[in-house]
Parts: sequence; structure tokens; C-alpha cells
Amino acid sequence: MKKRLIIVANRLPVKVTQIDPFTLQESEGGLATGLNSLDTNYEKHWIGWPGVYAKNRKERSIILEALKKKNIHPVFLSRQQVELFYEGYCNGTLWPLFHYFYVYTVYNEKYYSVYQEVNRLFLEKVLEVAREGDILWIHDYHLLILPGMIREKWKNASIGFFLHIPFPSYELFRFLPERKEILRGLLGADLVGFHTYDYMRHFQSTVYRILGYEFKLNEMIIDSRMVRINSFPMGIKFEKFYHSSENEKVISYIKEFRSTYGNQKFILSVDRLDYSKGILNRLEGFELFLEKNPEYRGQISLLIIVVPSRTNVEQYRKLKNRIDQLIGKINGKYSTIDWVPIFYFFRSFDFEQLCAIYYISEIALVTPLRDGMNLIAKEFIATKKDTPGVLILSEMAGSAIELKSSIIINPNNVNEIANAILTACRMTDEEKYDHIKKLQERVRSQNVDKWANDFISELEDIAEKNLKIQEKEINQKETDKIRDLYKKSKQRLIILDYDGTLVPFNADPKLAIPSEKILKTIKKLVDDSSNTIIINSGRKKDFLDKYFTESKVILISEHGSFLRINGIWENFLKQDSDPGWKEEILPILNKITDKTPGSMIEEKESGLVWHYRNTDKWLAELRETQLMNMLVYHCTKNNLSLMKGNKVIEIKVSGSNKGIAITRFIEMKKWDFIMAIGDDVTDEDMFDVLPDYALSIKIGQFSENARYTLRSPQKAVEFLEILSESEI
Ligand code: UDP
Ligand code: G6P
Repeated sequence: MKKRLIIVANRLPVKVTQIDPFTLQESEGGLATGLNSLDTNYEKHWIGWPGVYAKNRKERSIILEALKKKNIHPVFLSRQQVELFYEGYCNGTLWPLFHYFYVYTVYNEKYYSVYQEVNRLFLEKVLEVAREGDILWIHDYHLLILPGMIREKWKNASIGFFLHIPFPSYELFRFLPERKEILRGLLGADLVGFHTYDYMRHFQSTVYRILGYEFKLNEMIIDSRMVRINSFPMGIKFEKFYHSSENEKVISYIKEFRSTYGNQKFILSVDRLDYSKGILNRLEGFELFLEKNPEYRGQISLLIIVVPSRTNVEQYRKLKNRIDQLIGKINGKYSTIDWVPIFYFFRSFDFEQLCAIYYISEIALVTPLRDGMNLIAKEFIATKKDTPGVLILSEMAGSAIELKSSIIINPNNVNEIANAILTACRMTDEEKYDHIKKLQERVRSQNVDKWANDFISELEDIAEKNLKIQEKEINQKETDKIRDLYKKSKQRLIILDYDGTLVPFNADPKLAIPSEKILKTIKKLVDDSSNTIIINSGRKKDFLDKYFTESKVILISEHGSFLRINGIWENFLKQDSDPGWKEEILPILNKITDKTPGSMIEEKESGLVWHYRNTDKWLAELRETQLMNMLVYHCTKNNLSLMKGNKVIEIKVSGSNKGIAITRFIEMKKWDFIMAIGDDVTDEDMFDVLPDYALSIKIGQFSENARYTLRSPQKAVEFLEILSESEI
């Protein structure tokens, strides 16, 4: 049986225009056109809004039945829901904010509550349609909180999310009152995809600044589940557009155009009516071009198609008036008896008509002020096949990253637009031909099927990783198994890291002290004569001494530099190391600390530590690299080791680590139970030296090296408590 792909998007590939008799029309807009042409090995299902209001049950069932045949499962919305959800929160709040039109952003409390309500309706539909093994692929800003809602109900669902619009910088996103809920909702997905690396970068920094969660590269683990983000530039069905000029219908439209307009040259402009598309700037650019280059008047016209869109949203209505006026003004000023500067269509065209228009136009003028991707640019390039053409493209469109060899302009600079038109007009046919061919290479390879396959295969890869992560997590069954092993054994070695394992990290390390519960548990464990308990830490001797007063607890401090057995400390520091090195390194650390608010230096006997837990992540990354570069020479010269831990850089005398420190204990006896628990990179050293039968447990993260994971220090202590209470 074919695997099923459930595409969940507000806009379906078709919209119902009439219920009785039932009539459908293809939807406009990049999401619907792109996804509709997708070819996959999966059985494709759609969940979305049918674009029409059903008055009663009978109308609903007509729609349900008719769409079912196309594997489309409609979510019905009332007029009020459309007003507050679609026109309100989606297109009155999120759309302008995400496209950097901050002043257009409308806040209304009711909007978000209806946004939640509609996302819940989508949730119900997903739970009704989807089944175990399906892949759920949720799309766009209408459904930002749906992944989290599904995750709450369906823990191991495979959920992908793709954002078709830009993800704005943190400085804009932070304005949203519901910013936390929205980010948490998105992180319910296994994979969150964006068109470009820039949007992904903004998302990553926003999550860190608003929720405090950090991605490691492009992944993070939340609730024992991996979330990955990546960029997937969306493409088009290249071959369909490339060969469209062989299609009979398209040929007849081309002929019709030619007979009406003769050899008239066209600059093409196609968009939905949207302020983000920069239509006014484009018109001004064209006007300036005509003004500065009178020789082109009568030679070339602008063919502008504006597709009606979101007509109930105020800003869209206003824009329409301004476009009409500006076109009227330019046409009034420059038209002659036998030439019109601008041909204006306020309507949509079907695929064949659009292809004919792309084909007969020499220049495409695509000047959005912000655009997630912009597929028009790609469709134009493909449709030109082997005829000459030029693409003028805004640097603010996501597609500009891929289509670098087009004429790139800043859409806010009207002069640049006018000059770009002139450059394009002056290009020879041969140059135009080469221009198009070069652009076609990219559009052909990064097509819509590749886009979807790349996304889905990453989603499947994460599903596999998540399975592994879940298998490693100590659940009730595993706890019982380990407790049985514990009970049966007579010689047990238990090695525990301290920070991040027994106690959570604290902004001030001095305050990360053991709770009563931990101390009681350790006491219980150590009172059992079958147990040898080691606390293996990077902390200084006096800190460990202060809290672990029970002399039966073995303490290892400063990553293996000192050892306390029966209450007496032994020194493992290499005595021959030159103590003068600290004076050499300290000034470097002082300098970096001065420049890094929130960081501090800790002096240990075995070394020096630079702590930066309270420093902004981006600054910390910069300083970390700078410091490492500055230290390499001094560490090599003085035979010191340079260790990067969790928000610390440690410079210490070589020759000891947490692994070396426990080796002598492992070899000491014939243990029948060895368990090591740790969270940090320095704990991996101890996992490395454990014998095969030992139990290694990583806290908080997934580790290839460790056999098990536990989510948090709290879970680790609970787990130790269970062992300590085992009736033997
Ligand atoms: N489109 C259409 N009919 C029209 C004009 C445009 O079907 O009359 C389609 C066009 O083929 C393209 C999409 O609408 O696939 C526009 O996508 P784009 O990414 O450029 O912009 P969006 O509307 O998604 O912001
Ligand atoms: C953009 C959005 C899509 C949306 C399309 C058309 O491409 O990213 O989600 O479907 O515009 O807008 P509409 O409001 O008609 O769905």
C-alpha cells in the first residue's frame, strides 16, 4: 500500500465557486499552484478551506462528496471565522508583520482567539483523516500553531511544517503578543522548512531570544524529540512550463496576441494585488524609464496583470485605488494614437493564458518589497524555453538568492528600476538568450518535485532519529529492567557528574547546590555496602567537600585533578608543570571578559575557566572563537589542554580528564554493575572508558556514545531515588 502524504493548508489547489451546480476554479498564489503540480510516490491528500460558505448540511455534504473524489477534505469556516481568522489575524496581523510592513499590522484580541479556534478545527480534521504511518505536511502562516496542537494529541506523529512567506527578524517578531505560543506551536513539528537560509537564521535567533532554546547547528531536542530546521527553496514544475509553448491552447493564445499586437514588445508584471509586491514602485520605475529615455516611447509597453486578492482587507482595497490612479496618470501622460504605455488587467488568467503571456514578453519586471520566494520569476524563465528574455528581480524576493544572474535591483530605488529596464532593452538577442539559459539551469534542477522530495526525505530521516532517541530514553519498562539488574548485583560502581546531572544549571554557579532530596538519595546509596559512589565533577575541591560531607562518597574534582577517598584528598596534578603559565593566560582572559558582559573567570588549582552562561549567545560565539584562537599558541607552548564544556572554556594542565580519573576504579574490582551518568562533553570521556556491559546515561540530550538518556537532572535524581529504594 502507498504511504500517504497529508497536505494541510488553508488554501486548497481548487476553490469552490458555486455549490449547486458544483463548480470549481483553480486557486492562485504560489502555495496552491506549486503544491498542486507536485508528483510524489505518496498517495496525496489535502485538508483545507474550500473557499466558500456552506449554508446548511445539504450544501456541506455536496461539497464533501465532490471533493472526496479528489482526496480533498474540506474544513468549513463561517463568515465570522473568515473575517477574524483569514482577513484578521492571518492577513491583517501576520502577513504585514512578516513582510516588514509593521505600520500595517493590526492587533485585535479577537483575531488570535479565532485563529486558535480555526487551528483547532484543522486539528479535528487532521485527527479524523490521518492515520498511523501518514506524513503530515502543514503549510504557511495560517496554521502556525497547528503542529503543537497535533503533537499534544499524537505524540509520535510525523509532522513537517513549511513557511511560504519570510520569517522576519526577531526585532519584528517580538512585537506579536502571542509570540511564545506561536513559536511553541511551530516547534511541535519535527521539521520546520523555510525558503531561504536568512529566514531560517531569523527563526533560530527568535526561538533563542524568546524561548531561550538553543539549536545545535540546525537541530535541538525538546521533550525527547528532535526538531530540525532547514532551508528548502521552492521550485516550479519546470518541464510543464518549459514545454508549454508546444501546447495547442497556448499556441493559439500566442497567435491571438501576435495578431492583435503585431511585433509590439512587452515588459511583463504579474502579481496578486498585494502591497508586498511593490507594484507602485514598479510603475514609478517604468514611468521614470519613459521620462528619461524618450526613444523607447512607442517601442515597448508594460503589460501588468494584477490578480484580485484579499479584497476585504483594508490595505488591499486602498492599494487598488492607488494603482488605478498611477496607471491612469502614466497612460494619460504618454499614450499616443497608436501606442499605450501600460496594458492593465485586473483579473486572473489560467495556466495556458499565463504561459502565452510569459512567452510573448521579453522582459519580466519582478520588484517585490518583500516576497517569501516569488514563483512568477521562475515560471517566466522556464516558459521562455529557447527564446530571448530578461528577468529583472528584486533583491528582497527569496528567489533572488538562487537567481543571482538576473538583473538584481533594490525595489525601493526607482532609479535602479528605470536603469535596469534600460539595460534589459539594450541587451542583444544573443545576450538575452544566454541570460535565460543560465537562469534555466537553476530553475530546472531546483524544481518543485525536488523541493518536496528533499523536505520529505529529511522528515523521514528525523522520524528515524526520533525513534532512536525514544528507544534510548529510560521509560518505566527500562527503569524496571535496570532496577532488576541493580538488585541482582553485589558489586556496584556508580559514577555521577554534578552540574547538569544532579543539579540544573544556574546563572550563578555558586547557587547550583544539591537539594535535600539529592543528598538523601546519595546517602542511601552510599550506605549500601555493595555500592561505590563517585561524584566526578569539574568543580573545585572545597565546593564538593562542603556539600558531600559523607566520607564514603568518593569525590573527583577539577576533571580528574584531585581525588578524595575516605575523606582524604590526593593530588593528581602533574607537579612538573610550570605555574607561570597562569600569569601568561590571565591577561588574555581578563581582556575577553571586559569585552563580554555576563562572563567571568574562575581560578582553579589545575587551571583557569572562562564562564559565559549569562552572555548573549551570538556574542558568546564570537568571543569563544576569538579566545580559542588567542589561546592555541600559549596552550601548545605550555603543554596545556584547552577544553570546551557547556558554556565554559577551560585551560588546564594536560594529562587528566574524567575518563582517566575513573579508569583505576573500573579496573579495581570485578564489578557486576557499572553505571555512569553525565550531561556534558567532558562526561563523554568517562562514557568512552566504560566496559561494554556498563550503563551510560546522558542527561538532556541525545548522545551516540551513551546507551540511555534521561530528560533532565530532575529525572536523573528521581531515577537514582528509585534505585536507592530498591528492596534487595
Ligand atoms: N497565477 C495564476 N493566475 C494568474 C496569476 C498568477 O495562477 O492570473 C499563479 C502563478 O502561476 C504563480 C502564483 O499564482 O504560480 C503566484 O505565486 P508567487 O509565488 O509569485 O506569489 P504569491 O501569490 O504566492 O505571493
Ligand atoms: C501566498 C501565501 C499563500 C497563499 C497565497 C494566496 O503565496 O504564502 O499561503 O495561499 O499567497 O493568497 P490567498 O490569501 O488567496 O490564499
